[in-house]
Amino acid sequence: MLLQIAGLHAHYGKSHILHGVGFAIPEAGIISLLGRNGSGRSTTLKAIMGLVPASAGSIRLAGEELTGQRPYDIARRGVGYVPEERLIFPNLTVQENLEMGVQAARPGAANWAIADMYTYFPRLIERRDTKAGHLSGGEKQMLTICRSLLGNPRVLLVDEPTEGLAPKIVEVVMEVLLDVQRRGVAVLLVEQKLTIALKCSQRLFVMGQGTIVFAGTPDEFRASPEVRREWLEVA
Ligand SMILES: Nc1ncnc2c1ncn2[C@@H]1O[C@H](COP(=O)(O)OP(=O)(O)OP(=O)(O)O)[C@@H](O)[C@H]1O
Ligand SMILES: [Mg+2]
Repeated sequence: MLLQIAGLHAHYGKSHILHGVGFAIPEAGIISLLGRNGSGRSTTLKAIMGLVPASAGSIRLAGEELTGQRPYDIARRGVGYVPEERLIFPNLTVQENLEMGVQAARPGAANWAIADMYTYFPRLIERRDTKAGHLSGGEKQMLTICRSLLGNPRVLLVDEPTEGLAPKIVEVVMEVLLDVQRRGVAVLLVEQKLTIALKCSQRLFVMGQGTIVFAGTPDEFRASPEVRREWLEVA
């Protein structure tokens, strides 16, 4: 297993948000993290990234402990993060934003160049010299994904990448994530759209009340309607 999380607790001030989260994700493939609003999915990704401190538990990347490390060092070890709020430099052009994301190749791993990003998202070629602040929401999302990929991650954490996107762009984004996993990168996907998560994931984890309440394949999930009723549907 590439990423192993065990007994992870996290707080915002006095609010205890993660209550012993544990799961593991393999070297490659798309793994989805599902749950209702407020169940702790984004907090889990932030804890992996070191943006929220772990109050207990461990997060290991290829056996190496990440808790207590700075976000910058965690990124350097090969954890890419596409946050919910799109992370771009609004005053830089698309091309300049991409250049900011470029990092040295990781030997033996998938490596991406700026040209690959324009192949993934041809729309960005047309916007190459546009300041990123002037892009549409979908274009900003594409650019955020590109910036993370240019860091040549071993594991990519993606928080609701299709939220607010037109269906056509949703398809493009999912095709890119599928290609990323085909190239041997692990993708941990927080996705609200259940059909997408079921279609593209090898495995699903459902969060509820700050812990993992279900783990299984899409078929196992389909065979457990009570999980869906209890932990995903909005009453
Ligand atoms: N910065 C923060 N300060 C205090 N509480 C927070 C903060 N961020 C999130 N929370 C709380 O932590 C809980 C988990 O939030 P989290 O963002 O992880 O949920 P989520 O599963 O990603 O859901 P969604 O994205 O739909 O909000 C929620 O109750 C939320 O209100
Ligand atoms: Mg969230």
